[in-house]
Amino acid sequence: TEPLRLGIAGLGTVGTGVVKIVRRKAALLEARAGRPVEIVAVSARNRDKDRGVSLSDYAWEDDPVALAKRDDVDVFVELMGGSDGPAKAATEAALAAGKDVVTANKAMLAHHGTELAQLAEDHQGVLRFEAAVAGGIPVIKALTESLAGNEITRVLGVMNGTCNYILTRMESAGLPYDTVFEEANQLGYLEADPNLDVGGIDAGHKLSLLASIAFGTQVAFDDVQLEGIGCITIEDIRQAADMGYKIKLLGVTQMTGRGLEQRMTPCLVPDTSPLGQLDGGTNMVVIEGDEVGQIVLRGPGAGEGPTASAVMGDIMDIARGLRVSTFGRPAASLAPVTAALGATP
Ligand code: NAP
Ligand code: HSE
Repeated sequence: TEPLRLGIAGLGTVGTGVVKIVRRKAALLEARAGRPVEIVAVSARNRDKDRGVSLSDYAWEDDPVALAKRDDVDVFVELMGGSDGPAKAATEAALAAGKDVVTANKAMLAHHGTELAQLAEDHQGVLRFEAAVAGGIPVIKALTESLAGNEITRVLGVMNGTCNYILTRMESAGLPYDTVFEEANQLGYLEADPNLDVGGIDAGHKLSLLASIAFGTQVAFDDVQLEGIGCITIEDIRQAADMGYKIKLLGVTQMTGRGLEQRMTPCLVPDTSPLGQLDGGTNMVVIEGDEVGQIVLRGPGAGEGPTASAVMGDIMDIARGLRVSTFGRPAASLAPVTAALGATP
């Protein structure tokens, strides 16, 4: 049987995690997919960096676009990050060359998801991104596959582990925001641009993807009502606790009479509720459907193992011959959100 040949661009936390799984579990993956899953080529900025895993079996490309276009690559695995720049250029090159793409890049998809979905379709490629939302939690698979017989009525949840860590630590240790922010920085939790986390932007990216999938709309990150956690004081947290509540950076999306609501803001949640009990860097996504009622998914939203696990799930679906993109319908049929909101063109 023909192997599925991967080209991996980005060998940081997630990329090296994927390389390790492919190397360590080659026999298991082959047995499950019915064909070998192999890495043929990799790319990162610094070829000489020790990444704790052997790369000598793979071709090296300095340029991720060159990697994306290689004839011996079936699936381009984009794990560099960034909404534009090399991640977008290489993803476009891969799709235009008829490759399938697996990515964890919520920033790129929040800004360009609909056009990338269209490009994939135009070239009969598959575009998958389970790892882009809530790391290791299979929330996208739940929405697109397991709940395909439902009208989704609402999706909500905590989708940024760093903010949840900061808020729960402020509450449990009684420490002010600035102190806990610095602690999170020392622990390496914050994105290179911390405002992506504490400004609610990273969580907003994820919410815009869930909204698009749940409600069949174009990805509309610019329409997300965003507010970060930088304004939350220890006094706010104490007052909330006195009333039996916790403060969480909560994302909510639902189709209302006025159109698509996408809100990522600090909210009060009852401290005895599952969301109120969610501590540390964990994520929780609640999905409500007309048939299923409410389901709650909880788990690690970041880190090498959980995120690489989700990337591998997408790769394995492609290896098994599942030719379904994450958006799951013709991109042209995704409703523009402005129309859904009833705005005049
Ligand atoms: P990371 O540790 O910063 O790694 C990024 C990798 O991309 C590095 O290997 C870097 O090369 C490479 N890279 C950057 N610019 C490049 C360029 N111009 N050409 C070639 N390679 C380039 O990032 P990460 O945490 O693994 O995240 C990767 C993606 O997964 C991002 O989209 C992120 O949002 C997403 N994600 C991450 C997590 C998580 O827990 N980390 C969770 C969910 C989703 P060098 O190593 O040589 O510098
Ligand atoms: N900065 C993100 C978080 C990483 O804290 O949840 C995973 O997307």
